[in-house]
Amino acid sequence: MLDIKPTHKPIKEYFTELEAFATHGHSNEMTVRNAFQDLLQHYSRKLSWQFIEEYPIKRKGRRDASVDGALLDQFSLARGFWEAKDTHDNLPTEVAKKFADGYPQTNILFWQPGRVILYQDARLILDEDISTPAKLVEVLNAFFTWDQPYIREWEHAVEEFKSTIPTLAESVLKILKQQKESNRPFRESFDRFYELVKASVNPGLSVHAVEEMLIQHILTRRIFTTIFNSPTFLQKNAVAREIEGVVSALVQGFGTVDDFLKPLDRFYKALELAAGINEDYSQKQTFLNVVYEKFFQGFAVKVADTHGIVYTPQPIVDFMVKSVEAVLQKDFGKGLASEGVHILDPFVGTGNFILRVMREIHAQKPEALRYKYLNELHCNELMLLPYYIACLNIEHLFFELTGQYEPFPGICLVDTFELVEDRQIGMFTSDNTDRVQRQKDSPIYVVIGNPPYNAGQVIENDNNKNRKYPAIDKRVSDTYAKDSKASNKNALSDPYVKAFRMAADEIISTGEGIVAFVSNNGFLDGIAFDGMRKHIRKDFENTWLLDLGGNVRENPKLSGTTHNVFGIQVGVSIAILTRMRTGELHSVNYARMDEYWTKRQKYKQLVVDSDYRAVQFNRVSERDDNVWLSEGMADDWEDLIPIFFNSTNRLGRSSLFELSSNGVKTNRDSWAYNFSRAELGLNIRRMIDEYMIQLGRYLLMSDKPNFDDYISNDDTKISWSESLKNTFQRGTVEEFAIDGVRTSMYRPFTQEACYFSRTYTERRYQFPRIFPTGVENSVICLSGIGSSKPFQSLAVNMIACLDMLEKTQCFSLFVYDDDGSNKRDNISDWGLEQFQAHYNDKGISKLDIFHYVYGILHSPQYRAKYAANLKRELPRVPFAPDFKAFAEAGKKLMDLHVNYEEQSEFALTEVWAEVKPKDYRVAKMKRDSKDATRLIYNQSLTLIGIPMGVDDYKLGNRSALNWIVDQYQVSTDKRSGITNNPNREDDPTYIVRLIKKVVGVSMETNAVVESLPPIE
Ligand SMILES: C[S@@+](CC[C@H](N)C(=O)[O-])C[C@H]1O[C@@H](n2cnc3c(N)ncnc32)[C@H](O)[C@@H]1O
Repeated sequence: MLDIKPTHKPIKEYFTELEAFATHGHSNEMTVRNAFQDLLQHYSRKLSWQFIEEYPIKRKGRRDASVDGALLDQFSLARGFWEAKDTHDNLPTEVAKKFADGYPQTNILFWQPGRVILYQDARLILDEDISTPAKLVEVLNAFFTWDQPYIREWEHAVEEFKSTIPTLAESVLKILKQQKESNRPFRESFDRFYELVKASVNPGLSVHAVEEMLIQHILTRRIFTTIFNSPTFLQKNAVAREIEGVVSALVQGFGTVDDFLKPLDRFYKALELAAGINEDYSQKQTFLNVVYEKFFQGFAVKVADTHGIVYTPQPIVDFMVKSVEAVLQKDFGKGLASEGVHILDPFVGTGNFILRVMREIHAQKPEALRYKYLNELHCNELMLLPYYIACLNIEHLFFELTGQYEPFPGICLVDTFELVEDRQIGMFTSDNTDRVQRQKDSPIYVVIGNPPYNAGQVIENDNNKNRKYPAIDKRVSDTYAKDSKASNKNALSDPYVKAFRMAADEIISTGEGIVAFVSNNGFLDGIAFDGMRKHIRKDFENTWLLDLGGNVRENPKLSGTTHNVFGIQVGVSIAILTRMRTGELHSVNYARMDEYWTKRQKYKQLVVDSDYRAVQFNRVSERDDNVWLSEGMADDWEDLIPIFFNSTNRLGRSSLFELSSNGVKTNRDSWAYNFSRAELGLNIRRMIDEYMIQLGRYLLMSDKPNFDDYISNDDTKISWSESLKNTFQRGTVEEFAIDGVRTSMYRPFTQEACYFSRTYTERRYQFPRIFPTGVENSVICLSGIGSSKPFQSLAVNMIACLDMLEKTQCFSLFVYDDDGSNKRDNISDWGLEQFQAHYNDKGISKLDIFHYVYGILHSPQYRAKYAANLKRELPRVPFAPDFKAFAEAGKKLMDLHVNYEEQSEFALTEVWAEVKPKDYRVAKMKRDSKDATRLIYNQSLTLIGIPMGVDDYKLGNRSALNWIVDQYQVSTDKRSGITNNPNREDDPTYIVRLIKKVVGVSMETNAVVESLPPIE
């Protein structure tokens, strides 16, 4: 406790300055002010607070103001403010002005030489002449000892605590880091703990993850003990006990843990007070859920991404638990309450499923609950906070249902996938290890839950990749991947796929049982999941799939928040899989909820249905290709000429093209693409320099640290990608080379300079053989397998970007060796023979076929008839009755598209505002939303006369013209700060001419497409 005395040195110094001021007047004003500031700083330091000058004051709907000084405690909470004024100011008037301006009134000291006004809690406390030390000390003591009153109402406290969590978490993190530097016992205790967590949860765990664990513990420990009325929780809980030791070492310098957390009293006290009065557990539980969500959303966002931190809404949990109970009764003659039915939620979160299962057991057979609770309910959680919450929730419900308190022995703090690994490890504490072993030894009969899903990180600089698990990954690869015909199987690395594999194996080893998961619905029809579908059919007698839809990426008309049951972007489904010993019937049954239902309608339906028996399922027919959702597929597809088979699909079959390539993938577009060649060169050179510097340092280190911890992820200097990290680790050096700067079609009709190199382009696929430097070629590009947008095709004569179309797949006319030699046809002799034989015409050439294919791919009849097939496979082409008409139309289209810059300009009228000279620079163009014939080019130029029908020529969901409008804008990438400017100094009218040409190309394309003859 601070006790300021008139005899203190800083007080004396202040008065020396004040006297000098009295003698010499205003020339000393600044020195007195500084002396007062020194006083505040001095006493702040004594309290381990920080004095911040020019502290920003947030004001609703207005710009921040700033106060001369603020005192922040260890949690960055503001404990007092200081505003200094001059002698000639009228202090009370200034105070009134500042309050009107939105200054805080909690604890604020207005000062001028010789006088102060102190406001606390919006009340005037002191207005004093401070020309004597005794008065000054009185003011300072009042200012420094002020404590914010406790918040009274529960809701207000929850609200404030919630919005403060990210700041609190950041502050504790800072303290942790400082203490690690200065507090040896803590450092040692932290290191020991870190090793323990690594050994038990994940050997690759970062220091940061463990710091987060401690923060979660520190901020919530008091909530558990007092609010949840569980005073012994910290001593009794298998994990909390261990962490308490580390925390005590951390706070040594602050006294006890309670002293350390004193500044947070105002939140906790309010919560405790309300909790004391309020016996309603559900309100407390809601509060915990808020803390849980807020912690992850506001502070540990990346963790939330990798672990899929999202609640399961109650109607889904109810439906699933009731369905499992129904299946158990109907097909197994048992129930959840039956002895021997071990139940596991492998991803328990805050405990939703286990809680519901307990209620169901209690409803079915109250006397069974105790035995089940102590012996046959199991669950795992990987993150500390949900683990604590689940413990409390489950133990509390048991108490509520039975009137007894028993610690729940079925919960483990463990990584479920790690359990599949065949290694014997200590799991944190001996208690936790025993529980894990007990779970491993139990024959699990029901696996139920909501597995995390996320196909992997998007940006390598984020360093939040999904972890690798050798054993379960191998199981997925030996089964789901091995039996997949897809060429790109990345989607199988999603954790929910591992979860299905793990759960199926668990039930297979028990012999019979049920898996009930709510998860990403991608496996129902995803291309890469054909093997997974095959195995689900094989492993389970009956499969019930209730598709809740909500895939916003596939259907942009949907909104994640409104339509998706989890409020997310990917579709969701419930799967109930049953394995019986009969081993005969293998039925897959599918039902879907209306695509356009809101999530509320979907919840309601689940409540109405109650369990799976009320749902109208359709039996899915068994097909060799393991397609479940085959609606809309054409029957004659197999009879058409395949343009290409990838290596897994080929199986000795011939195809029209010899070679295919994906479009080029840079994984760092803002660095590797630019409208300006010069800018591109500068950017990529800068990044290469950074790579070289980091590599040079790394190579010189004798004791090499963990690679991911070593590299710097500064987005403004470098953009890492998986392959660049690999090359780095191999020590590969590649200098910038000018011939790496190439031209590429980045988006339809949008050429940009692109850096094309072995090291700095993530994947070049076959493009070194399609466009080695200095050769000519034509390439038919089309949207690849699994595209969500309508089928599209565009021919180009340069490198194509993977996202030029969706998942761009490319078929060139010629193929070369990497050095540009050995030019040969890419259309196979087999293909030529098929065509010549079918049309009985030896005159048909490979070039004719190339054009023919392009013509067919534009036929509206073809696109409509085979739409569903084209989503799943690369195109196959029919023999149309009129070969020549398609070949000629294809040739014409190819010329229009490849040589779009040479086409004549469509006559649009330029309407200029009164500006001189004319300005052709664009910032962001716009189609006039009220009049589609007008395009607002920039502030001074509008183009009018855009013909009707121009938007009929679409590539994906966007017309060619709208691609130009969208792409030709000045943009700055948020992460790297790199600007891409499409305006050309050397050719200022390029963009306006391009627009006119692309309008012309669109209209002519429409005309050719309309005149195409039938395909059959
Ligand atoms: C989608 S949430 C489940 C939510 C839960 N059903 C509920 O309603 O609270 C997934 C949970 O699993 C945890 N988790 C993710 N991966 C895990 C793993 N490998 N082992 C154990 N738990 C994991 C996450 O921390 C998260 O709390």
